[in-house]
Amino acid sequence: MEFTTVLCFLVSFISIILLNLLIKSFSFFFPSKVNTQLPLPPGTMGWPYIGETFQMYSQDPNLFFATKIKRYGSMFKSHILGYPCVMISNPEAAKFVLNKAQLFKPTFPDSKQRMLGKQAIFFQQGAYHANLRRLVLCTFTTEAIKNIFSDIESIAQNCLKSWEGKLITTFLEMKTYTINVALLSIFGKDETLNAEVLKRCYYTLERGYNSMPINLPGTLFHKAMKARKELADMVARTISKRRKTKQEHNDLLGSFMSEKAGLTDEQITDNIIGVIFAARDTTATVLTWIVKYLGENPSVLEAATEEHESILRCKEESGEEMGLNWSDTKNMPVTSRIIQETLRIASILSFTFREAIEDVEFQGYLIPKGWKVLPLFRNIHHSPDNFKEPEKFDPSRFEVAPKPNTFMPFGNGTHACPGNEIAKLEMLVLLHHLITKYRLAIWFITKHNLLVTLFGVCSDERHVPKLECFE
Ligand code: HEM
Repeated sequence: MEFTTVLCFLVSFISIILLNLLIKSFSFFFPSKVNTQLPLPPGTMGWPYIGETFQMYSQDPNLFFATKIKRYGSMFKSHILGYPCVMISNPEAAKFVLNKAQLFKPTFPDSKQRMLGKQAIFFQQGAYHANLRRLVLCTFTTEAIKNIFSDIESIAQNCLKSWEGKLITTFLEMKTYTINVALLSIFGKDETLNAEVLKRCYYTLERGYNSMPINLPGTLFHKAMKARKELADMVARTISKRRKTKQEHNDLLGSFMSEKAGLTDEQITDNIIGVIFAARDTTATVLTWIVKYLGENPSVLEAATEEHESILRCKEESGEEMGLNWSDTKNMPVTSRIIQETLRIASILSFTFREAIEDVEFQGYLIPKGWKVLPLFRNIHHSPDNFKEPEKFDPSRFEVAPKPNTFMPFGNGTHACPGNEIAKLEMLVLLHHLITKYRLAIWFITKHNLLVTLFGVCSDERHVPKLECFE
């Protein structure tokens, strides 16, 4: 070997070492946060672009997740709807993702954001999100919802009355109940509001929410976007009427319109539509599942009946006013456990989406920037590691608190549900009246793969309620 070649080799070698040292010393001052050489979580990515979307949607997505968990463990990668994803079914890991807002942001398809309103709370981060959350939370504190307790009760009683002697589709009727409660908490008893027109627009919007985002005349999406515009105009008119009268309102709109809130009219409108969306279907779905589980579990219904009958008996004996009151709802442990167990077993929000804002190292794996991260609520709620005999409907399991982070029907962390208290309250109130005053006959039918429960309601004088099930 020639001397010059050896020299060249030595110089290059030394330069590489020096460069390496230089990079290392630089990284001492500006450390690279993540070792990008880390492995990706286990799993498969499927076909280019399509990924594993077909595999997931050609079966029950929950089964798809369960199979993957069995094969790869509680954290695995996949590729769904055009995006690389990491799915997470480990409770601590899910909590980490939902609480580290600086690493994981909410992510929704653009069409959904346009429909609900780009400035709605779900899509936000940072100071604007914190401000919105504060405003929403202060409308739904226990103190605040206590003030509308008797109005919620009237709505429940009126709904039940309207079902008397009829065969009804439970889910549709529950949706009427929950939208009425939502509108009460948002607009109070604002008489300037044309609630029926507002509801009509909202229903059109809802029908188009999951449609193909093709904005051409005649499509569901187009109709929904038109309805959204009408809804926004209605909210804007209500805002301007309220400004003229300068009257104070203790409802969500009042909270959004306060000077301290500092929101524009457009921001208010997006968030009003967003909260109606968040409040309505969720609570109605849980109520529908509760009716189904009560129908299928006579001993559970009997225990609930005893609880509610005993509340009434105590009032009768003590000469207390007979109507339900706020503190009664704090004394319904059996019914509360029925609600908890339904939230667990039905897991109506199977999972949520976040997106990694930067490369994240987690449990020895790399979650690359831009990847979607899905905490799988349903799989956490259905894991035998977290709940014994998870497929069994057994409210008594909640006599003991679940293990930390294994029960998150209302999410966790930065975007956890601010409406959970009012949701539980409206369920307790409706169930109290349903159970104590009515006899139900339930039919289960399956329509468009969705369980629809039909039940006839009748109120003779008060009698022990009985559910008769037919399949
Ligand atoms: C049983 C009924 C309900 C369930 C199961 C439920 C569940 C959830 C879950 C899991 C989240 C978090 C989603 C995520 O992290 O991506 C959430 C967020 C939210 N929920 Fe609920 N919810 C219910 C009822 C309500 C009600 C009645 C309201 C309104 C009064 C409401 C308002 C909201 C809002 C505004 C958010 C977004 C919070 C944020 O982004 O900071 N929800 N809900």
